[in-house]
Amino acid sequence: MTRPIKAAIDLAALRHNHGVARRHAGAARIWSVVKADAYGHGLLRVARALDGLADGFALIELEGAIALRRAGFRQPILLLEGYYCADELPLFAQYLLTPTVHSMEQVMMLKAAALPGPLPVYLKLNSGMNRLGLNADELPAALAALAAAPQVAGMTLMTHFADADTERGIAAQLARFETMRRSLIGCWPVSPANSAALLAYPEHCGDWVRPGIMLYGASPFPEMKSAESMGLRPAMTLESELIAVREIARGERVGYGGMFTAMADMRMGVVACGYADGYPRAAPTGTPVLVCGQRTRTLGRVSMDKICVDLSGIPGARVGSRVLLWGGDPLTGLPADEVAGAAGTVSYELFCALSARVPVTER
Ligand SMILES: Cc1ncc(COP(=O)(O)O)c(C=O)c1O
Repeated sequence: MTRPIKAAIDLAALRHNHGVARRHAGAARIWSVVKADAYGHGLLRVARALDGLADGFALIELEGAIALRRAGFRQPILLLEGYYCADELPLFAQYLLTPTVHSMEQVMMLKAAALPGPLPVYLKLNSGMNRLGLNADELPAALAALAAAPQVAGMTLMTHFADADTERGIAAQLARFETMRRSLIGCWPVSPANSAALLAYPEHCGDWVRPGIMLYGASPFPEMKSAESMGLRPAMTLESELIAVREIARGERVGYGGMFTAMADMRMGVVACGYADGYPRAAPTGTPVLVCGQRTRTLGRVSMDKICVDLSGIPGARVGSRVLLWGGDPLTGLPADEVAGAAGTVSYELFCALSARVPVTER
C-alpha cells in the first residue's frame, strides 16, 4: 500500500496569483521569484505555469537558472545574490543571466572578467536591511568601475525592504534609497519591491517588482491581512489520511513525551504526516487541521512520520478519512499561514520544507 500523503500544486492558482501581482504592479514588470525550488512548488513546474505571464524569473541558484535556460525559457533571469566566485561569470554570459552585484568584491570580479559579451547588472543598494548591498559611501567607486565597463550592458538599482510587512513600513529605507539614487549621474531603472511592498505600497513599485510568496498564495503579512482577503489562492495543498483511530481514556497521554493528556474519554486519530514530510515539528497541540473537511486540532508532539489529531465531534472519521494539513479551497480549506502561525513560523518555511519523499501532483 502506498503511504497516503501527497501534495498537489494548483497551476491555475499560480497563474491567478500572478494576475493579482500584475494588477498591483501597474506598468512595472514582474520578476517571478522562484528560488528554493519555487518555494518548494517545483522550479520547472512553476516556470511552465507562469510562462507567457512572467516577464522574468528571479532566483538564487545558478544551477536552477541554467536548468530554466536548458528547458527553453527565454525570459530574463535574475540571480538575486549574483555570483559567488569569478569562475561563475562565464556561465552568466553563456546563459544570458542577469547578476545582482551587491559588494565591492563582486564589482572587482566583474571588472576583471573576460566575457564574450556584456551583462545587464542589478546593482543592489543597502538602504537599511544591512544584509547584502552597497553602502552609500561605496557607490561612487562601484559606479566608476562599472558604468563604462565593457562587461556591463546596463544597470538597474535594486534594494530590499526589511519592514514592508510590519507597522514600521518602508519610509526610512525608501528615503535612503532615493538619496542614493539621486546621488548618481544618470537615470537608472529601479527594483525595490517584494510581495509585501508590492501589496502594501504599490505606488513604490518602480520598474521591476519581485514578488515571491504571494505567487504561491500566502500572505506576506498574515497577522494583518489574510491571503484570501487579498484575493490570493493557495497553490500548494498537503493532504494525507488517518492510518489509525483509537479511543483513549481520560488521563491517557499521547505521543512522545506525553505532551497531551486527555481531560475526558475521547476519540483520536493518527495521520500519515510528520516532520520528515515537512510538517513543522514545532506545531503544538491545538494546531488546526481538517479531518473529513471539519476543522479540528493536533494533539501532542509531531513525530517524524505521524501526527495525532482530535476526532471529538467527527464521528464519521475512520481509517482512510481524508486529512488536510494545509491548502485546499480558499473558503473551505486551511491556509498554510494559519498552520505556520500556530507553529511559530511562516508559510515560506512550510512550503520550502516540503520533503522529497512526498509525491507531488499537478492540477
Ligand atoms: C531580494 C529578494 N527579492 C524578492 C524576494 C521575494 O520576497 P517575497 O517572497 O517576500 O515576495 C526575496 C525573498 O526573500 C528576496 O530575497
